[in-house]
Amino acid sequence: MPLVPMRLLLDHAAEHDYGLAAFNVNNMEQIQAIMEAADETESPVIVQASRGAREYSQDNYLRHLMLAAAELYPRIPIAMHQDHGNSPETCKSAIENGFTSVMMDGSLLEDGKTPADFDYNVKVTRAVVETAHARGVTVEGELGCLGSLETGTGDKEDGHGAEGSLSRDQLLTDPDEAERFVQETGVDALAVAIGTSHGAYKFTRKPDGEVLAMDRIEEIHRRLPNCHLVMHGSSSVPQELQDIINAHGGQIRQTWGVPVEEIQRGIKSGVRKVNVDTDNRLAITGAIRKVLHEDPEKFDPRQYLKPARAAMKEVCIDRMKAFGQAGNAGKIKCVGTESFVSYYATV
Ligand code: 13P
Repeated sequence: MPLVPMRLLLDHAAEHDYGLAAFNVNNMEQIQAIMEAADETESPVIVQASRGAREYSQDNYLRHLMLAAAELYPRIPIAMHQDHGNSPETCKSAIENGFTSVMMDGSLLEDGKTPADFDYNVKVTRAVVETAHARGVTVEGELGCLGSLETGTGDKEDGHGAEGSLSRDQLLTDPDEAERFVQETGVDALAVAIGTSHGAYKFTRKPDGEVLAMDRIEEIHRRLPNCHLVMHGSSSVPQELQDIINAHGGQIRQTWGVPVEEIQRGIKSGVRKVNVDTDNRLAITGAIRKVLHEDPEKFDPRQYLKPARAAMKEVCIDRMKAFGQAGNAGKIKCVGTESFVSYYATV
Protein backbone atom coordinates (compact mmCIF):
# COMPACT_ATOMS: atom_id res chain seq x y z
CA MET A 1 0.00 0.00 0.00
CA PRO A 2 1.63 3.28 -1.03
CA LEU A 3 1.48 6.44 1.04
CA VAL A 4 -1.27 8.49 -0.59
CA PRO A 5 -1.27 12.15 -1.65
CA MET A 6 -3.00 14.29 0.96
CA ARG A 7 -5.22 15.75 -1.78
CA LEU A 8 -6.90 12.35 -2.15
CA LEU A 9 -7.95 12.46 1.50
CA LEU A 10 -8.98 16.12 1.47
CA ASP A 11 -11.16 15.62 -1.61
CA HIS A 12 -12.89 12.65 -0.01
CA ALA A 13 -13.42 14.60 3.21
CA ALA A 14 -14.90 17.53 1.28
CA GLU A 15 -17.20 15.27 -0.69
CA HIS A 16 -18.48 13.65 2.51
CA ASP A 17 -18.39 16.68 4.85
CA TYR A 18 -15.84 15.64 7.41
CA GLY A 19 -12.46 16.82 8.66
CA LEU A 20 -9.15 15.03 9.12
CA ALA A 21 -6.85 15.46 12.08
CA ALA A 22 -3.22 15.94 11.06
CA PHE A 23 -1.12 14.61 13.92
CA ASN A 24 2.52 15.62 14.40
CA VAL A 25 5.14 12.95 15.01
CA ASN A 26 8.73 12.78 16.18
CA ASN A 27 9.20 9.13 17.07
CA MET A 28 8.03 5.56 16.67
CA GLU A 29 5.61 5.51 19.60
CA GLN A 30 3.68 8.48 18.23
CA ILE A 31 3.35 6.84 14.82
CA GLN A 32 2.23 3.61 16.50
CA ALA A 33 -0.38 5.47 18.56
CA ILE A 34 -1.85 7.15 15.48
CA MET A 35 -1.91 3.93 13.47
CA GLU A 36 -3.55 1.94 16.25
CA ALA A 37 -6.19 4.64 16.58
CA ALA A 38 -6.73 4.72 12.81
CA ASP A 39 -7.03 0.95 12.68
CA GLU A 40 -9.52 0.84 15.54
CA THR A 41 -11.70 3.61 14.10
CA GLU A 42 -11.12 2.81 10.40
CA SER A 43 -9.86 6.32 9.75
CA PRO A 44 -7.76 7.68 6.92
CA VAL A 45 -4.87 9.62 8.48
CA ILE A 46 -2.53 12.53 7.93
CA VAL A 47 0.79 12.18 9.74
CA GLN A 48 2.97 15.27 9.69
CA ALA A 49 6.51 16.22 10.64
CA SER A 50 7.86 19.72 11.17
CA ARG A 51 11.41 20.69 10.25
CA GLY A 52 12.33 20.24 13.90
CA ALA A 53 10.79 16.77 13.90
CA ARG A 54 12.67 15.77 10.75
CA GLU A 55 15.90 16.89 12.33
CA TYR A 56 15.12 15.13 15.62
CA SER A 57 14.03 11.82 14.10
CA GLN A 58 16.18 11.96 10.93
CA ASP A 59 14.56 11.58 7.53
CA ASN A 60 15.71 8.00 6.97
CA TYR A 61 14.20 6.73 10.22
CA LEU A 62 11.01 8.64 9.58
CA ARG A 63 10.65 7.39 6.01
CA HIS A 64 11.10 3.77 7.02
CA LEU A 65 8.72 4.10 9.96
CA MET A 66 6.05 5.50 7.67
CA LEU A 67 6.61 2.76 5.11
CA ALA A 68 6.34 0.23 7.94
CA ALA A 69 3.03 1.80 8.98
CA ALA A 70 1.73 1.50 5.42
CA GLU A 71 2.84 -2.14 5.29
CA LEU A 72 1.33 -3.02 8.67
CA TYR A 73 -2.00 -1.30 7.98
CA PRO A 74 -2.81 -1.88 4.29
CA ARG A 75 -6.46 -0.86 4.81
CA ILE A 76 -5.58 2.61 6.08
CA PRO A 77 -4.85 5.43 3.62
CA ILE A 78 -1.93 7.43 5.05
CA ALA A 79 -0.66 10.80 3.85
CA MET A 80 2.75 12.00 5.01
CA HIS A 81 2.96 15.78 5.25
CA GLN A 82 5.76 18.31 5.81
CA ASP A 83 4.47 20.78 8.40
CA HIS A 84 5.60 24.44 8.06
CA GLY A 85 8.20 24.15 5.33
CA ASN A 86 10.18 27.41 5.48
CA SER A 87 11.52 27.36 1.91
CA PRO A 88 11.16 25.61 -1.45
CA GLU A 89 14.37 23.67 -0.60
CA THR A 90 12.84 22.25 2.58
CA CYS A 91 9.77 21.15 0.62
CA LYS A 92 11.91 19.64 -2.13
CA SER A 93 13.92 17.60 0.37
CA ALA A 94 10.67 16.40 1.97
CA ILE A 95 9.43 15.21 -1.43
CA GLU A 96 12.75 13.42 -2.03
CA ASN A 97 12.24 11.70 1.31
CA GLY A 98 8.86 10.28 0.40
CA PHE A 99 6.49 12.89 1.82
CA THR A 100 3.26 12.91 -0.19
CA SER A 101 2.33 16.43 0.82
CA VAL A 102 4.19 19.60 1.77
CA MET A 103 3.36 22.88 3.41
CA MET A 104 5.12 25.95 2.06
CA ASP A 105 4.64 28.47 4.84
CA GLY A 106 5.41 31.68 2.95
CA SER A 107 3.57 33.79 5.53
CA LEU A 108 7.05 34.08 7.07
CA LEU A 109 10.43 34.60 5.45
CA GLU A 110 12.87 31.71 5.27
CA ASP A 111 14.16 32.54 8.76
CA GLY A 112 10.81 31.26 10.01
CA LYS A 113 10.16 34.32 12.18
CA THR A 114 9.81 37.46 10.03
CA PRO A 115 6.35 38.13 8.54
CA ALA A 116 6.57 38.13 4.72
CA ASP A 117 4.57 40.22 2.28
CA PHE A 118 1.89 38.88 -0.05
CA ASP A 119 4.07 38.90 -3.19
CA TYR A 120 6.88 36.93 -1.53
CA ASN A 121 4.35 34.42 -0.24
CA VAL A 122 2.81 33.95 -3.70
CA LYS A 123 6.23 33.60 -5.33
CA VAL A 124 7.63 30.86 -3.04
CA THR A 125 4.32 29.01 -2.77
CA ARG A 126 3.81 28.96 -6.53
CA ALA A 127 7.36 27.65 -7.00
CA VAL A 128 6.61 24.78 -4.61
CA VAL A 129 3.29 24.05 -6.33
CA GLU A 130 5.13 23.67 -9.66
CA THR A 131 7.74 21.28 -8.25
CA ALA A 132 5.31 19.29 -6.10
CA HIS A 133 2.44 18.93 -8.56
CA ALA A 134 4.82 17.66 -11.24
CA ARG A 135 5.38 14.73 -8.85
CA GLY A 136 1.75 14.37 -7.77
CA VAL A 137 2.49 15.78 -4.31
CA THR A 138 -0.07 17.98 -2.50
CA VAL A 139 0.69 21.55 -1.38
CA GLU A 140 -0.66 23.52 1.56
CA GLY A 141 -0.01 27.27 1.73
CA GLU A 142 -0.58 29.73 4.55
CA LEU A 143 -1.86 33.28 4.47
CA GLY A 144 -1.83 35.44 7.60
CA CYS A 145 0.36 34.85 10.66
CA LEU A 146 -0.52 32.46 13.45
CA GLY A 147 -0.67 34.19 16.80
CA SER A 148 -2.87 35.43 19.59
CA LEU A 149 -5.60 38.04 19.11
CA GLU A 150 -5.66 38.32 22.91
CA THR A 151 -2.05 39.47 23.27
CA GLY A 152 -1.28 40.63 19.71
CA THR A 153 1.84 38.50 19.58
CA GLY A 154 3.13 35.94 17.10
CA ASP A 155 3.56 32.27 17.68
CA LYS A 156 7.01 30.83 18.13
CA GLU A 157 7.21 27.09 18.67
CA ASP A 158 9.90 24.59 17.70
CA GLY A 159 11.98 27.45 16.25
CA HIS A 160 9.21 28.45 13.82
CA GLY A 161 6.71 31.30 14.14
CA ALA A 162 6.47 35.09 14.00
CA GLU A 163 8.37 36.93 16.69
CA GLY A 164 7.12 40.00 18.55
CA SER A 165 3.97 42.08 18.16
CA LEU A 166 1.62 41.74 15.20
CA SER A 167 -1.35 43.85 14.15
CA ARG A 168 -4.86 42.40 14.08
CA ASP A 169 -4.66 42.59 10.27
CA GLN A 170 -1.55 40.43 10.24
CA LEU A 171 -3.15 37.94 12.63
CA LEU A 172 -6.26 37.43 10.50
CA THR A 173 -6.36 36.06 6.96
CA ASP A 174 -7.85 38.64 4.64
CA PRO A 175 -10.65 37.07 2.54
CA ASP A 176 -9.85 39.20 -0.56
CA GLU A 177 -6.20 38.20 -0.40
CA ALA A 178 -7.20 34.58 0.17
CA GLU A 179 -9.07 34.55 -3.14
CA ARG A 180 -6.10 36.02 -4.99
CA PHE A 181 -3.61 33.76 -3.22
CA VAL A 182 -5.39 30.54 -4.14
CA GLN A 183 -5.92 31.72 -7.69
CA GLU A 184 -2.30 32.80 -8.18
CA THR A 185 -0.58 29.87 -6.48
CA GLY A 186 -2.78 26.86 -7.29
CA VAL A 187 -2.44 25.43 -3.76
CA ASP A 188 -4.51 22.40 -2.78
CA ALA A 189 -5.18 23.66 0.73
CA LEU A 190 -5.00 26.96 2.56
CA ALA A 191 -4.05 27.41 6.21
CA VAL A 192 -5.81 30.41 7.69
CA ALA A 193 -4.94 32.69 10.58
CA ILE A 194 -7.90 33.13 12.94
CA GLY A 195 -6.27 33.71 16.33
CA THR A 196 -4.99 30.20 17.00
CA SER A 197 -1.39 29.52 17.94
CA HIS A 198 0.76 26.47 18.53
CA GLY A 199 1.40 25.08 22.00
CA ALA A 200 -0.57 24.86 25.23
CA TYR A 201 -1.00 28.57 26.00
CA LYS A 202 -3.49 29.71 23.37
CA PHE A 203 -6.15 31.52 25.40
CA THR A 204 -6.41 32.80 28.98
CA ARG A 205 -10.13 31.98 29.05
CA LYS A 206 -12.57 29.85 27.10
CA PRO A 207 -12.33 31.52 23.68
CA ASP A 208 -15.19 33.50 22.15
CA GLY A 209 -15.49 35.20 18.76
CA GLU A 210 -13.26 38.10 19.87
CA VAL A 211 -10.18 35.91 20.16
CA LEU A 212 -11.09 32.94 17.96
CA ALA A 213 -12.37 34.31 14.65
CA MET A 214 -14.38 31.38 13.30
CA ASP A 215 -16.41 33.85 11.25
CA ARG A 216 -13.29 34.42 9.10
CA ILE A 217 -13.36 30.78 8.10
CA GLU A 218 -17.03 31.08 7.19
CA GLU A 219 -16.34 34.15 5.05
CA ILE A 220 -13.32 32.59 3.31
CA HIS A 221 -15.28 29.41 2.63
CA ARG A 222 -18.10 31.48 1.16
CA ARG A 223 -15.60 33.05 -1.26
CA LEU A 224 -13.60 29.87 -1.93
CA PRO A 225 -16.07 26.98 -1.62
CA ASN A 226 -13.76 24.57 -3.44
CA CYS A 227 -10.59 25.25 -1.48
CA HIS A 228 -9.71 22.94 1.39
CA LEU A 229 -9.11 25.01 4.52
CA VAL A 230 -6.66 24.12 7.29
CA MET A 231 -6.81 25.04 10.97
CA HIS A 232 -3.42 25.18 12.70
CA GLY A 233 -2.92 25.38 16.45
CA SER A 234 -6.07 23.34 16.96
CA SER A 235 -5.35 21.38 20.08
CA SER A 236 -8.16 21.61 22.61
CA VAL A 237 -5.82 21.45 25.64
CA PRO A 238 -8.32 19.40 27.70
CA GLN A 239 -8.57 20.28 31.37
CA GLU A 240 -8.19 16.62 32.39
CA LEU A 241 -4.82 16.37 30.63
CA GLN A 242 -3.62 19.54 32.37
CA ASP A 243 -4.83 18.08 35.67
CA ILE A 244 -3.01 14.75 35.22
CA ILE A 245 0.29 16.54 34.59
CA ASN A 246 -0.18 18.90 37.53
CA ALA A 247 -1.25 16.10 39.87
CA HIS A 248 2.06 14.37 39.24
CA GLY A 249 4.60 17.10 39.72
CA GLY A 250 4.08 19.11 36.52
CA GLN A 251 3.44 22.82 36.28
CA ILE A 252 1.05 23.71 33.49
CA ARG A 253 -0.49 27.15 34.04
CA GLN A 254 -4.28 27.25 33.66
CA THR A 255 -4.97 27.59 29.93
CA TRP A 256 -7.57 27.02 27.21
CA GLY A 257 -7.34 25.58 23.71
CA VAL A 258 -9.67 25.43 20.72
CA PRO A 259 -12.92 23.72 21.79
CA VAL A 260 -13.82 20.68 19.69
CA GLU A 261 -17.27 22.24 18.98
CA GLU A 262 -15.55 25.21 17.31
CA ILE A 263 -13.52 22.86 15.13
CA GLN A 264 -16.73 21.06 14.20
CA ARG A 265 -18.17 24.44 13.23
CA GLY A 266 -15.10 24.99 11.02
CA ILE A 267 -15.56 21.58 9.40
CA LYS A 268 -19.06 22.69 8.37
CA SER A 269 -17.33 25.60 6.57
CA GLY A 270 -14.68 23.88 4.51
CA VAL A 271 -12.04 22.99 7.11
CA ARG A 272 -10.65 19.62 6.00
CA LYS A 273 -7.35 19.44 7.89
CA VAL A 274 -7.04 20.11 11.60
CA ASN A 275 -3.54 20.24 13.08
CA VAL A 276 -3.16 18.58 16.47
CA ASP A 277 0.14 18.17 18.27
CA THR A 278 -0.03 19.68 21.77
CA ASP A 279 -2.90 17.46 22.98
CA ASN A 280 -0.83 14.40 22.19
CA ARG A 281 2.22 15.88 23.88
CA LEU A 282 0.15 16.59 26.99
CA ALA A 283 -1.28 13.07 27.00
CA ILE A 284 2.16 11.49 26.66
CA THR A 285 3.72 13.68 29.35
CA GLY A 286 0.83 13.11 31.76
CA ALA A 287 1.07 9.33 31.37
CA ILE A 288 4.85 9.27 31.84
CA ARG A 289 4.68 11.59 34.86
CA LYS A 290 1.97 9.44 36.43
CA VAL A 291 3.98 6.20 36.14
CA LEU A 292 7.21 7.71 37.41
CA HIS A 293 5.51 9.67 40.18
CA GLU A 294 3.55 6.69 41.46
CA ASP A 295 6.44 4.28 41.13
CA PRO A 296 9.78 6.13 41.15
CA GLU A 297 11.65 2.83 41.09
CA LYS A 298 10.64 2.11 37.50
CA PHE A 299 13.34 2.62 34.90
CA ASP A 300 12.47 0.39 31.93
CA PRO A 301 11.32 2.86 29.23
CA ARG A 302 8.64 0.42 28.13
CA GLN A 303 6.96 0.78 31.52
CA TYR A 304 6.19 4.43 30.85
CA LEU A 305 6.23 4.55 27.04
CA LYS A 306 3.47 1.93 26.78
CA PRO A 307 1.01 3.99 28.89
CA ALA A 308 2.19 7.11 27.06
CA ARG A 309 1.40 5.52 23.70
CA ALA A 310 -1.99 4.35 24.99
CA ALA A 311 -2.81 7.85 26.26
CA MET A 312 -1.96 9.41 22.89
CA LYS A 313 -4.01 6.74 21.11
CA GLU A 314 -7.05 7.77 23.20
CA VAL A 315 -6.66 11.42 22.15
CA CYS A 316 -6.34 10.38 18.48
CA ILE A 317 -9.44 8.18 18.67
CA ASP A 318 -11.38 11.03 20.25
CA ARG A 319 -10.43 13.50 17.53
CA MET A 320 -10.94 11.00 14.69
CA LYS A 321 -14.50 10.42 15.89
CA ALA A 322 -15.21 14.09 16.60
CA PHE A 323 -13.94 15.30 13.21
CA GLY A 324 -15.86 12.59 11.33
CA GLN A 325 -12.96 10.81 9.65
CA ALA A 326 -13.73 7.57 11.54
CA GLY A 327 -15.27 4.89 9.34
CA ASN A 328 -13.96 6.34 6.08
CA ALA A 329 -10.71 4.41 5.55
CA GLY A 330 -12.29 1.62 3.52
CA LYS A 331 -14.21 4.03 1.31
CA ILE A 332 -11.10 5.54 -0.26
CA LYS A 333 -9.33 3.84 -3.11
CA CYS A 334 -5.65 4.18 -2.29
CA VAL A 335 -3.37 5.47 -5.02
CA GLY A 336 0.18 6.78 -4.93
CA THR A 337 1.43 10.21 -5.93
CA GLU A 338 2.07 9.09 -9.53
CA SER A 339 -1.71 8.92 -10.12
CA PHE A 340 -1.94 12.60 -9.31
CA VAL A 341 0.65 13.75 -11.83
CA SER A 342 -1.86 13.51 -14.68
CA TYR A 343 -4.58 14.96 -12.44
CA TYR A 344 -2.59 18.15 -11.91
CA ALA A 345 -1.63 18.29 -15.58
CA THR A 346 -5.32 18.63 -16.47
CA VAL A 347 -6.43 21.23 -13.90
P1 13P B 1 -1.23 22.55 18.45
O1 13P B 1 0.01 23.05 19.14
O2 13P B 1 -2.44 23.32 18.86
O3 13P B 1 -1.42 21.10 18.63
O4 13P B 1 -1.05 22.82 16.89
C1 13P B 1 -0.21 22.01 16.11
C2 13P B 1 -0.01 22.59 14.76
O5 13P B 1 -0.73 23.46 14.31
C3 13P B 1 1.11 22.05 13.95
O6 13P B 1 1.32 22.78 12.78
